[in-house]
Amino acid sequence: MEIKKIFVAGAGLMGGGIAQVCAQASYDVIMRDITDDILNKSLKTINWSVGKFVEKGKVAGTVDEIMGRLHVTTDLGAAAEADFVFEAIIENLEAKRALFAELDKLCPPHTIFGSNTSAIPVTEIAEATQRVPQVCGTHFFSPVPMMRAVEIVKGLGTSQETVEIADKLCQSIGKETIRVNLDVAGIVLNRLNFPSTIEAIKLVEAGVTTVEDIDKGMRLGFGRPMGPFETADMAGLDIGYNAMLAVYRETRDPKFHPPMLLQRKVKLGQLGRKTGIGWYRYDENGQKIGPAD
Ligand SMILES: NC(=O)c1ccc[n+]([C@@H]2O[C@H](COP(=O)([O-])OP(=O)(O)OC[C@H]3O[C@@H](n4cnc5c(N)ncnc54)[C@H](O)[C@@H]3O)[C@@H](O)[C@H]2O)c1
Repeated sequence: MEIKKIFVAGAGLMGGGIAQVCAQASYDVIMRDITDDILNKSLKTINWSVGKFVEKGKVAGTVDEIMGRLHVTTDLGAAAEADFVFEAIIENLEAKRALFAELDKLCPPHTIFGSNTSAIPVTEIAEATQRVPQVCGTHFFSPVPMMRAVEIVKGLGTSQETVEIADKLCQSIGKETIRVNLDVAGIVLNRLNFPSTIEAIKLVEAGVTTVEDIDKGMRLGFGRPMGPFETADMAGLDIGYNAMLAVYRETRDPKFHPPMLLQRKVKLGQLGRKTGIGWYRYDENGQKIGPAD
């Protein structure tokens, strides 16, 4: 099956990034969110990021050519033209199921759906549609234009053909794929990463060391581009918290239980870069200005 038109549901951190890499790879893209304000903000970010890629010669074409392939709308009906849908809306089972049920009615029979969920089993989302074999997980990492991995997740009813098509599509947009044969909460990479992030928070909670020193240590000692607190601030503390909780609920394994300090920060609305404060403080341009406390 040839994929020509891509529909991206959600213009937040992940949806915007997915739409960008698809447009950069010459696909026709329609990105949908619920308000024009959100879409315009996302377009501004994408335009800036595409500019950087063009400037460094990392993508073919001009900013105008790439942005010209990316259309935005608040109308879900625009999905009727899509060959493939990437879903990147809020991490909420009911919201995702409602969206997939609508998309199922609107999209042609051949359309394949890929969900970017980190923690909800794809099987539960797919079940809201009449096309269970054509629904899989396509789990990107943030920031999407920079991070090359995508987990291709097979739900219980996902067909092998769908997995192959999603895998090929993700490779065609410059990603390397990791095959995941069962839709466990947290998938594979977060299941590996969460215990380390949780331990980092516990070490700060216990006063053993600081947020900045852990981030510095993980950068300089393990060669990571960012430490766990910097990563959490970029992804959103609420996103990480909810994903940890979902993995804990599924596994009942205490190593995935979100620590108290993280829970308190989420309750306070200290969600990271998007709210100007998380583990660090940020200025109005999203630049880090110092520790939160
Ligand atoms: N943030 C990360 O680092 C990260 C990493 C991997 C996966 N994910 C997953 O990706 C998904 C999106 O996360 P995000 O960080 O981009 O969230 P976000 O909050 O930045 O964006 C979500 C967007 O979805 C929109 N939305 C809500 N309902 C919608 C609907 N019915 N149709 C279209 N848009 C709708 C919201 O208005 C919002 O703009 C979640 O499932 C999340 O768990 C996030």
